Amino acid sequence: MTRSERIQAVRGMNDVLPEDEALWRRFEDAVAGCMAAYGYRRIRTPIVEPTRLFVRGIGEVTDIVEKEMYSFTDALNGEELTLRPENTAGVVRASIEHNLLYDGPKRLWYAGPMFRHEKPQKGRYRQFHQVGAEAMGFPGPDADAEVILLCQRLWDDLGLTGISLELNSLGEIDERRAHRDALIAYFEAHRDELDEDARRRLYSNPLRILDTKNPSMQALVQAAPQLGGYLGESSRAHFEHLQALLRGQNIPVRINPRLVRGLDYYNLSVFEWVAGGLTVCGGGRYDPLVEMLGGKPAPACGFAIGVERILELMRASSADAAQCDVYVVHQGEAAEAGAFQAAERLRDAGLDVVLNCGGGGFKAQFRRADASGAFLAVILGEDEMSKAQVSLKWLRGGAGAGVAGAQRTVAFASLVDAVIDALAGDDEAVGN
Ligand code: HAM
Repeated sequence: MTRSERIQAVRGMNDVLPEDEALWRRFEDAVAGCMAAYGYRRIRTPIVEPTRLFVRGIGEVTDIVEKEMYSFTDALNGEELTLRPENTAGVVRASIEHNLLYDGPKRLWYAGPMFRHEKPQKGRYRQFHQVGAEAMGFPGPDADAEVILLCQRLWDDLGLTGISLELNSLGEIDERRAHRDALIAYFEAHRDELDEDARRRLYSNPLRILDTKNPSMQALVQAAPQLGGYLGESSRAHFEHLQALLRGQNIPVRINPRLVRGLDYYNLSVFEWVAGGLTVCGGGRYDPLVEMLGGKPAPACGFAIGVERILELMRASSADAAQCDVYVVHQGEAAEAGAFQAAERLRDAGLDVVLNCGGGGFKAQFRRADASGAFLAVILGEDEMSKAQVSLKWLRGGAGAGVAGAQRTVAFASLVDAVIDALAGDDEAVGN
């Protein structure tokens, strides 16, 4: 490599730049608020886990384990390790390791980067972020309803509409097995109508035949036995109770019998929140997992949100959220000292303030003020300083704000009150 060669980020792994920070913070604050509102407590687990945790937890013949994991041998001690592709397995491992369920069920949540070697495209990255919640030790379906309501509250708090809920029940293992046998028998009876792909999958993975895109097989697939018909009484009751709880809270649900999820640990209810053709959140019940990972059997359910996908929806729904409250514009030596004082006083009052640094004429400073996203500019020039005044100018119009461009002068001594009134929409002269 020559000295001048530029090193770039790994494909599909993104930098989050400062201009996105306000959006991320708004999302993270809303998440922390919702988790607290439902009594979930945060857990932080390592990004690297033993590879066998995911092989055993997610399932050996899943897409994630077969072709998407960043796995490596630690050159220093030969351990087989993997960058976590998801965090349910990690949270379950931690709760077994620390005996977290010894005194009863636990509500846990997490946030952080996950890694999957997928083909990068919009909404699909190799390093992406999830926020997840796991209700551990609850047999449901009350806990299933609770995690779904938590998601709905988060969408509401973020002002997101148009995210719809799809729900299905996968039943228990023996019910799925009976359904699988019925599917094989059905497709065997229609062997002539199967394409090559379907014939290959007939015994290895007959469920995947249901996903076929082949138009000539659609009628056959539509008439195939559905898992719903193989659910026993207790699975059906669980599913119906969950639906009744959601109806009671006016959560619209679309039952999607094709919803299967890509991880092997699920049983009973599974769900996905979908917007614009992308799944922004997926989850469900995974009662077998704790025992599969060596713990005392414990039922559990939860979800994980694809953070980048939600941020994309937030971007589309709130075009220009402010990044700071006030930008301080100043010119002249005396004004500089006054500007520092004004900025510090406004920060004392809890406001987010950007002080113009690096000089520049008024025109250049206003350009920077506009770019800062501030609602209000505080202006200190020679003229204002000589009269112990400052000027306030609205930079942006819109709901709750004044008219962009409106300006007025206030005494320096009453600056903080005037700015707070103006930002609260109580100011007459600055456009309200
Ligand atoms: P998942 O469906 O694999 O479930 O992932 C959850 C969400 O993460 C997806 O719906 C999607 O929004 C986001 N996501 C997944 N892969 C990518 C990617 N390559 N780029 C961007 N976003 C992505 C789980 O991970 C389970 N652990 C969820 C769960 C928790 N189930 C029970 N508890």
